[in-house]
Amino acid sequence: MKTTRKITDNIYYLGANDRRLALFENLFPLENGISYNSYFIDDEKTLVTDTVDRFVSDAFFENLEHLLAGRPLDYLVVHHMEPDHGANIGRLIEMYPDMKVVASAKANQMIQQFFNVNLGDRVILVKDGDSLSLGKHTLHFVTAPMVHWPEVIMSYEESTGILFSADAFGTFGALDGKIFNDEVLIDESWYGEARRYYSNIVGKYGPQVQAVLKKAAALDIKMIAPLHGPVWRKDIGDFIAKYDLWSRYQPEEKGVLVAYASMYGNTESAANALALSLVEKGAGDVQVRDVSVTDVSELISLAWKYSHIVIASPTYNLALHPKMEHFVLDMKALNLQNRTVAIIENGSWAPAVVKNVTEIMSSMKNMNIMEEKVLIKSALHDSSPIEKLADAIVADLKK
Ligand code: FEO
Repeated sequence: MKTTRKITDNIYYLGANDRRLALFENLFPLENGISYNSYFIDDEKTLVTDTVDRFVSDAFFENLEHLLAGRPLDYLVVHHMEPDHGANIGRLIEMYPDMKVVASAKANQMIQQFFNVNLGDRVILVKDGDSLSLGKHTLHFVTAPMVHWPEVIMSYEESTGILFSADAFGTFGALDGKIFNDEVLIDESWYGEARRYYSNIVGKYGPQVQAVLKKAAALDIKMIAPLHGPVWRKDIGDFIAKYDLWSRYQPEEKGVLVAYASMYGNTESAANALALSLVEKGAGDVQVRDVSVTDVSELISLAWKYSHIVIASPTYNLALHPKMEHFVLDMKALNLQNRTVAIIENGSWAPAVVKNVTEIMSSMKNMNIMEEKVLIKSALHDSSPIEKLADAIVADLKK
């Protein structure tokens, strides 16, 4: 059964959804699956962009066979070698012996690494400024190193204005038959998943994303066709504006993420008291999360969104609670910058939260730790330190 859809007169979507996968990269929880997108250009020459993950290969090959209708496949463009897109490259190389593989030099090297195959003269190596004509369609190649691997390229199809953007502008979530963004409800919850995808997967490489956005600004983009999620053909500027903020590590909103770890409820109680006080004092959007309950990828997404982050943790093995440590070290690993951080420390006999958070944050860029702190010895019995911290955060938010 074919599951393709036209995105222009001669360009087709032939991706596939996986709604069974629980963890993307065996790491990130999926609430509603994921799509792996591939595109087919039907011209004097035939071309397919990328493949799909191994778990959904059958749909891809059925669709490709249907679209080719007996013709040979002339080109495979490899935008990205990560196996969620590259898993079937080896099989395509075997199935279509006359097919040329269009890829960056690094991708060619990775093809050899993953599939133990030397493409020889079957590969067309491309870099910035190179193009490939198929008849009516012409692809122009744009290198996009580290968005999200070093071999990544994007391609811009001149006659339709489509930017095939690799992982950039992708999101978690299967496509429910809705291939285009104007068929999907693009609300805060949708952007939440797109941000969770961006911040956790590409977030570390903000400067490289900025470099690609600058190259893209020179193109007349009418559609963005990513490797995951819908094809953007409406309000493209909205998504590009989010990418610009995210990749400059600028918060989307003035607001507060209160992230707490709590073993017996005492630190949790302080975090809840702070949230109540913050909202009462007019802090704007306040989100409270238990780091032992909320997946760290969601915490990262919220840290990317808000200007202020409160770390509330008990001391554990003379360091942070392990779940909090994971969150804080993940922010550092992903290069988060430009946030204001407040600390609620709990420690019954040798408190070490302030010391640990300060050490980690001082190795990050432009992470400002607030002077006002709440220091709890086991349990808080007086709300005035919480009120003072809330006052300080609200004053800072209003700066
Ligand atoms: Fe969707 Fe970096 O792979």
